[in-house]
Amino acid sequence: MNVKGKVILLMLAVSTAVVVFLEYINRNPEVDNNSSQKGWWFLSWFKDGTHDYQEEEINIEEGTGRELHLSDWFDPTKRPEVVTVTGWQAPVVWEDTYNVAVLESYYARRRITVGLTVFATGRYIDHYLEEFIISANRYFMAGHNVIFYIMVDDVSKIPLIELGPRRSFKVFEIKSEKRWQDISMMRMNTIAEHILAHIQHEVDFLFCMDVDQVFQDNFGVETLGQLVAQLQAWWYKADPREFTYERRKQSAAYIPFGQGDFYYHAAIFGGTPSQVLNLTQACFRGILQDKKNNIEAKWHDESHLNKYFLLNKPTKILSPEYCWDYHIGLPSEIRNVKLSWQTKEYNLVRNNV
Ligand SMILES: *[C@@H]1O[C@H](CO)[C@@H](O)[C@H](O)[C@H]1NC(C)=O
Ligand SMILES: *[C@@H]1O[C@H](CO)[C@@H](O)[C@H](O)[C@H]1NC(C)=O
Ligand SMILES: *[C@@H]1O[C@H](CO)[C@@H](O)[C@H](O)[C@H]1NC(C)=O
Repeated sequence: MNVKGKVILLMLAVSTAVVVFLEYINRNPEVDNNSSQKGWWFLSWFKDGTHDYQEEEINIEEGTGRELHLSDWFDPTKRPEVVTVTGWQAPVVWEDTYNVAVLESYYARRRITVGLTVFATGRYIDHYLEEFIISANRYFMAGHNVIFYIMVDDVSKIPLIELGPRRSFKVFEIKSEKRWQDISMMRMNTIAEHILAHIQHEVDFLFCMDVDQVFQDNFGVETLGQLVAQLQAWWYKADPREFTYERRKQSAAYIPFGQGDFYYHAAIFGGTPSQVLNLTQACFRGILQDKKNNIEAKWHDESHLNKYFLLNKPTKILSPEYCWDYHIGLPSEIRNVKLSWQTKEYNLVRNNV
């Protein structure tokens, strides 16, 4: 199914009415940096949104009982061959370390809603968006409420996709950038603006993902946390001295040799809306500072993300099973691939390779 030119996505569920939200963001932060003002403008649009925050709060109070402790659902000894706990005692979630039944019953009682932002501009829409959404519809937080936030530069190219129950979406039009590096870096700012404007009132947890990947298996509630980082598949066994961090002092993303815990992948990050807001704002500040100083970090927004996670340790880390590249092969510790990289056809999808 590759239907072009359709503006409307279909939903299977009876639930919410389908609305396409268009957004015209002023991308120049020097000219307009008053996000609180924008926030109110958006809120008036979302008054009839899908999620009643007040009601949710009350349900959480009444229905849950006790808090979930790490030891209730996580057993790091199940995977002795890999790192399952960080130096700061955060879990590294690998297949077989978590108890799905315990987690599911806890989060089902809380009636959580999880957001997922995805950006696709230019040929990324034709090449990747449909497969990403179809697979996310099936595997991302199955059984829980999900809102997809789809950011595209051309709403008319959005494919026709049928979503399952408890899934809804909001489409936003964003301005395209000439260089893919800029698209990637501006993403930090756009996410921050949307969290302030509406996402913070709509979801309990938020993930931000690249579009050029496909879900292969359940990407479930075991991944939820305050601040969640993804191990980069090519680097999880490497010596930290080899990590491709930004090593120039002039950059805000600078990490000296001898520092740094892991090499994190910008293709997936998440957490609570307030934590993701802080992250995206900090990364964008770093990006702007670098632009002012005429320097661009080695891996763009990913370099700034790695700097952020050095200073603000993630509370949960996802194993490379959550973002695997089959070009590496399939080593024995990769027991269950939840999401895999698409073939990166850079010559086809990028204006500048
Ligand atoms: C944006 O923020 C800067 C400093 O925070 C301030 O000097 C400038 O006046 C602001 N611009 C607008 C349009 O609010
Ligand atoms: C932003 O806009 C709001 C509403 O117009 C105004 O009350 C507030 O003072 C502004 N804040 C800044 C930092 O400009
Ligand atoms: C937000 O980010 C700033 C800058 O990186 C950091 O200093 C601060 O601790 C963060 N706050 C929270 C609540 O994580």
